[in-house]
Amino acid sequence: MILFFTLPRGCHIIGSRAMPMKLFDIRPMTPADLDAVLAVERQCYAHPWSAGFFLQELANPLATVDLLWIEGALAGYLCSWRVDGELHILNLATAPLFRRHGIGSALLRRAFSHGIAQGVEKAFLEVRVSNEAAIDLYRHFGFRTIFRRPCYYPDGEDAWVMERDFAESAPRGDLAPPDRG
Ligand SMILES: CC(C)(COP(=O)(O)OP(=O)(O)OC[C@H]1O[C@@H](n2cnc3c(N)ncnc32)[C@H](O)[C@@H]1OP(=O)(O)O)[C@@H](O)C(=O)NCCC(=O)NCCS
Repeated sequence: MILFFTLPRGCHIIGSRAMPMKLFDIRPMTPADLDAVLAVERQCYAHPWSAGFFLQELANPLATVDLLWIEGALAGYLCSWRVDGELHILNLATAPLFRRHGIGSALLRRAFSHGIAQGVEKAFLEVRVSNEAAIDLYRHFGFRTIFRRPCYYPDGEDAWVMERDFAESAPRGDLAPPDRG
């Protein structure tokens, strides 16, 4: 039997074997979300962004901070800049409880589809050379390493600079092609 139903506007479904189907909603951050964002940020990074940093992004006309909510809980967020036909991904984080359920992928898809709709041709990011989870995720979205930036992070770790060229096709079917809708 096939069931059809209509989702509330702006809502989507996410799910996996470990986390049954859930509704999620992605919307832009506002100053009222700051405490929730900082709580996740502190769980995700040894050197978290400060409140001032997030507020600066909210005031920056080039920046977008998308928040992904599941049943009232902040599951993840992505901060990006659109500059001169390029999408720069500055921060992508999924709260530990929600990892490996497609949250990071959903946020990247949203950033790709909005970027492409606004004429973005390439995406760039920096990632710690030791961050295998994030590097794996980005590779599935068609990013490739273009060079290594020495001592990029405050603790002296190097970064890979990664690029995704939207003119090229991407490697893995389910994650890679950006949603152009
Ligand atoms: C990196 C991060 C954002 C991934 O978020 P996520 O919501 O768990 O990612 P997804 O569930 O969409 O994962 C999609 C794919 O990425 C890869 N991936 C994600 N986490 C991984 C891990 N821990 N190890 C290996 N591969 C991983 C897998 O290929 C995964 O697909 P699969 O689950 O079908 O195997 C999350 O681990 C995180 O917030 N880390 C701390 C903050 C951080 O390092 N951010 C990146 C800064 S550059």
